[in-house]
Amino acid sequence: MKNKILITETALRDGNQSLLATRLKTDEILPIIEKMDEVGYYALEVWGGATFDACIRFLNEDPWERLRAIKKRAKKTKLQMLLRGQNLLGYRHYGDDIVEEFVKKSIENGIDIIRIFDALNDVRNLKTAALATKKYGGHCQLSIAYTISPIHTTEYYKNLAKEMEELGADSIVIKDMAGILLPETGYKLIKEIKSVINIPLELHTHGTSGIAGMLYLRAIDAGVDIIDTAISAFAGGTSQPATESIVRTLEGNKRDSQLNLTLLKEIAEYFKPIRKKYVEEKNLNIQAYFVEPSILEYQLPGGMLSNLISQLIIQGELDKYEDVLKEIPRVREDLGYPPLVTPLSQIVGAQAVFNILTKERYKLISNEIKNYARGLYGKTPISIKENIKKILIGDDSIFEGRPADQLKPEYELLEERVKKIVNNPVPEDILIYAMFPQEAIKYFQKNKIL
Ligand code: CO
Repeated sequence: MKNKILITETALRDGNQSLLATRLKTDEILPIIEKMDEVGYYALEVWGGATFDACIRFLNEDPWERLRAIKKRAKKTKLQMLLRGQNLLGYRHYGDDIVEEFVKKSIENGIDIIRIFDALNDVRNLKTAALATKKYGGHCQLSIAYTISPIHTTEYYKNLAKEMEELGADSIVIKDMAGILLPETGYKLIKEIKSVINIPLELHTHGTSGIAGMLYLRAIDAGVDIIDTAISAFAGGTSQPATESIVRTLEGNKRDSQLNLTLLKEIAEYFKPIRKKYVEEKNLNIQAYFVEPSILEYQLPGGMLSNLISQLIIQGELDKYEDVLKEIPRVREDLGYPPLVTPLSQIVGAQAVFNILTKERYKLISNEIKNYARGLYGKTPISIKENIKKILIGDDSIFEGRPADQLKPEYELLEERVKKIVNNPVPEDILIYAMFPQEAIKYFQKNKIL
């Protein structure tokens, strides 16, 4: 007899990010947390790179204070965050001392589960964050960034899952950031991965291509332990399927979620006027709800398609859209099939545009691609072919080690800089500065000036 399906509520992080440009304010979140805490969710996903960034960039809020305030009200339900491996919440690799301090402070301020991913599925980039999570008593969830390519076979994912369990993962999540995992493929993948691991398996997807609910149903049949959904007010489109719809669908199923539907309805009603306000302010764009089955054909994240269109419109080259779409898989193949997730989705997309607009492949090569080819982002899923490597970096050598091994400790240096701006800064201030230095200075000047 299989256990009930567990549900992680994503409204406050992924739903907020996918539909509301991450503009939800702490004042809009707090009044409903106690009710959310009573629903019976497995976890509430409340924190991540975009929520942290938006707090200081747009909302003039302390992201740490938001976390503490949520924790105070969510007494039963675990709080979860998303962490980009050695990049933490920022856009570069950080020294191990910063990674450890960030994880420690996240747990101290209220995070229970840290979901850690690396764009290249290079486990070495997960290691410091994973070990720190365990050390400070958090639940370490490691992510498989799901992508499709000739080398991303079921065997590949099974080996990756085993490697993650050996590293000490308390659970594993299949992170289908593009919403391209088809229901039957997902069914088999979950069965196969579950056959080689002894820890819970979670599934995360997006509704962009219109198949997310169907995938979840098959995943539940296959024995997945936890799924990610968003309360209806912030569900659908590029966000997750609606929590209430999934809960209703499973009524009478042996995996019934047993979540409290009366409370779910009240939570949805609470958020509806807030959503209306974001529609009126144009932070919620109707485009986010358009179903895009074409992403199943191109296997690209929905966000990448819309970025591409706006980029080509600006350059007056929209007629090249189809050519660029065809070029993206070729560039990705040249680079050894990286998953198209931040920052690789941007890097591959930009190179495909260069290749088409200059009418000559790799006439113009971005520095990011060169660094990627040099191994500075981590190990490529397969080695880059010799002839392509030659074009990208000539005879430069490839760094084979863990990228962060080249980095020196940097916490004290950053602390010195923050002390010049803020009186008696706490470690949380140093970490705000470490993540987004320019925005942090503006934020400190408004709030914490000497
Ligand atoms: Co997501």
